[in-house]
Amino acid sequence: MDVIEAMETCIAMRYLKEDPVPDADLERLVYAATRASSPGNSQHWEFVVLTDPTVKGKIGEAVSAAMAPMFASLPEGRDGVETRMYRGAAHLAANFAKVPAWILGCARMAYPPDAPTEAFMHSTIYPAGQNLIVAARSMGLGTTFTTFQMAAEDVIRSTLSIPSEVHLCLMVAVGYPERDFGPVRRKPVADVLHWNAW
Ligand SMILES: Cc1cc2nc3c(=O)[nH]c(=O)nc-3n(C[C@H](O)[C@H](O)[C@H](O)COP(=O)(O)O)c2cc1C
Repeated sequence: MDVIEAMETCIAMRYLKEDPVPDADLERLVYAATRASSPGNSQHWEFVVLTDPTVKGKIGEAVSAAMAPMFASLPEGRDGVETRMYRGAAHLAANFAKVPAWILGCARMAYPPDAPTEAFMHSTIYPAGQNLIVAARSMGLGTTFTTFQMAAEDVIRSTLSIPSEVHLCLMVAVGYPERDFGPVRRKPVADVLHWNAW
């Protein structure tokens, strides 16, 4: 698949089949993630792939318990698209353990070495995450980029023995899609592109 087509169609896939994804494919996703650019090529990223049902069950319980109140009281005035998105996110959180694989993207705040900043840390992990979801689309795998790790950071850290200096930055759900891929809905280029001056 052409890389532009993969970018155009890698919608958040919040409904995933339970069929396992081969470890080799999950490793290939991390390979793709780690081909990304990073500040000064510092590469202060690391990834934890979760496929073990016990591990997913423990973390999933904590994530869905922490997020349930938010999903139970959605703000008024949402349009159909937003309502569908929240319903999808609630489904994904509630079915955390049934998602075949979660890839936790971690980073160290270590760039630049003399005065590390959070901005450089996040700018290390996010391009890697985007590489990962585009690569997954090209392999016929559905993904959802999430920040679910924020809901249960302590449980995730202790369950996975993650050192305290490592930051938990993103969590991507991976599996075969239960629904069709479709075009991402984004602003037209003309609304955001400026040539030579604002
Ligand atoms: C940094 C980041 C955090 C996100 N967090 C979540 C999340 O916690 N839960 C979720 O269901 N989707 C999450 N998403 C997915 C976005 O909601 C989704 O990409 C966006 O609504 C556009 O939809 P589309 O990708 O299907 O076109 C996140 C995306 C990004 C980039």
